Amino acid sequence: MADSFFPPSCQPTQVSIIGAGKVGSALAQRIAESNIANVVLLDVVEGLPQGLALDLMEAGAVENHDRQVTGTNDYADTAGSDVVVITAGRPRTPGMDRHDLIGINTKIVADAATQAIAHSPNAALIVVTNPLDVMTYVAWQVTQLATYRILGMAGVLDSARFQAFIAMELQVSVSDVKATVLGSHGDLMVPLPRYSTVNGIPVSELMTEAALQGIVERTRQGGAEVVKLLKTGGAFYAPASSIRIMVESILLNRSRLLPVSAYLQGEYGLTDLFLGVPCWLGCRGVERILELALSEPEHKALMHSARSVQEGIKLAQKVLDQLDPST
Ligand code: NAI
Ligand code: 2OP
Repeated sequence: MADSFFPPSCQPTQVSIIGAGKVGSALAQRIAESNIANVVLLDVVEGLPQGLALDLMEAGAVENHDRQVTGTNDYADTAGSDVVVITAGRPRTPGMDRHDLIGINTKIVADAATQAIAHSPNAALIVVTNPLDVMTYVAWQVTQLATYRILGMAGVLDSARFQAFIAMELQVSVSDVKATVLGSHGDLMVPLPRYSTVNGIPVSELMTEAALQGIVERTRQGGAEVVKLLKTGGAFYAPASSIRIMVESILLNRSRLLPVSAYLQGEYGLTDLFLGVPCWLGCRGVERILELALSEPEHKALMHSARSVQEGIKLAQKVLDQLDPST
């Protein structure tokens, strides 16, 4: 927490994580242990964020991190955050589509985003709750933040899965694999084999078309595969890693070029929605959106993906319209 104890030049940066569940708590650990910022972990469940924060503080002695981790149920304790991450909300259970979560999660995200930004009006806001692209739109609607300050995490995770599956198939180090996934976070995501390489060598040169298509399909089902195995929730290690590099690129102004859900205003021929596209992330948030040259089938797939997000936004808008503005 920003504190008057520190002179201005020593003010530690602060990341607030709303939702201290599987993803939120794993993210708190990653951020604290990489020493990039103090963490405030907030949840509606009393004792949960406090217990997790204490546990992480105790790990500091062994992990050599000097970050403060605070657990709270009160948004006042998140005041002055540089980045706010929203992971509050229900995860999927087996057989559920991410859109099935719109009813419940729209209310949770609207409340969390409103309260968090009221206390940290200058923060960059990263949304994680599903359905991701729709929930990012909801958070933007209720906060009216500048569009470059608000973004959703999904493309980094989907690309990480694509990279992991390519590395497993080719038995090469995943560090040498670069791959990218655009579009919505769901079955209609758009993995781009044409832009995927192993140390600069196109993956299409290294495996059969059938193997590549198998990996593309496995990537599209990557979240569901973990949900099916865990049975009681979704993935959290890879999601937390994916959020961490976005937070780091913003806090350290690293200008990483990452696929994130960003607000489109004509890019790729689309307007008024959040969708996964490659963006430079720096201290302002989304510094710039890259418009990749897409082939006709890739462009068609992106449009299909966008339409599913637009349908989700309409459903979420109905939920927002029913919310009592006084609550
Ligand atoms: P979880 O159930 O472990 O944690 C959710 C937490 O949110 C719980 O601790 C709950 O008490 C809290 N919560 C509920 N309502 C709240 C409110 N109004 N204010 C503050 N906290 C509240 O779920 P998990 O696995 O951490 O996932 C969280 C969300 O992130 C889900 O919607 C999930 O689908 C999504 N997700 C998205 C990913 C992506 O790539 N965008 C990846 C992984 C998860
Ligand atoms: C995932 O892809 C649940 O959306 C989450 O793992």
